[in-house]
Amino acid sequence: MKLLFVGDIYGRTGREMLEEYLPKMKNRYHPNLTIVNAENSAHGKGITKKIYTQLLEMGADILTMGNHTWDNREIFEFIDDAKKIVRPANFPEGTPGTGMRIIQVNQLSVAVINLQGRVFLPPIDDPFRTADRLITEARKKTNFIFVDIHAETTSEKLALGWYLDGRVSAVIGTHTHVQTADERIFPQGTAFLSDVGMTGPYNGIIGVERAAVTKRFLTAMPVRFESDQGPGQLGAVLISIDNQSGRAVKIERILINDDHPFFD
Ligand code: FE2
Repeated sequence: MKLLFVGDIYGRTGREMLEEYLPKMKNRYHPNLTIVNAENSAHGKGITKKIYTQLLEMGADILTMGNHTWDNREIFEFIDDAKKIVRPANFPEGTPGTGMRIIQVNQLSVAVINLQGRVFLPPIDDPFRTADRLITEARKKTNFIFVDIHAETTSEKLALGWYLDGRVSAVIGTHTHVQTADERIFPQGTAFLSDVGMTGPYNGIIGVERAAVTKRFLTAMPVRFESDQGPGQLGAVLISIDNQSGRAVKIERILINDDHPFFD
């Protein structure tokens, strides 16, 4: 079983990168399931119904979200019917949508869980104990469990990775938009990477046009953030999982940009 996970799609540039490179990655890596973080896919903020449909048409099997889940209000109209989307599971009870979905992949089931960190992010429920609860539920049905931990700090992500070692196939971080190089497999078989990196504008500042961000740092005044219009990058990770045990056997980072071209 191979899972391909593509990091935070940011605006039009991110969507175009996915459209161009997902078929090429599928051709090379043959993933059984493709998971895509889409919380910034609509102009850097949230997701629309149209983009939800487009990302699935491009080849994503399921989408994960994060702290920008509600930024585009259109989501309230479709999230309850959207079978291919998970938002952070530790949002307070009563929040629309769901934090875990179990998907059929040929004869196997894969549970996809989305969690959000609490360090330097709005206060929400405990991601660790939420994970405990969902994993107990998921393991009644499958050994294949993927966790997207959407969080700011490497420490919180690493702590969750170790905490879940042996109970899930992979814990992969999103949100910082910068890919880390700490991929590994923990002793009990959980693949880990602090952050998979963004799929969006390569020459912006985490996706945003540079001048506005620089102005904000220089003046501390409010500025309007727009997506950078330059060339794109794509951050992803490929995880190979043992078909019986659900333990990860290999984790491979993928980074595509002008400095790291993808050769067909
Ligand atoms: Fe985020």
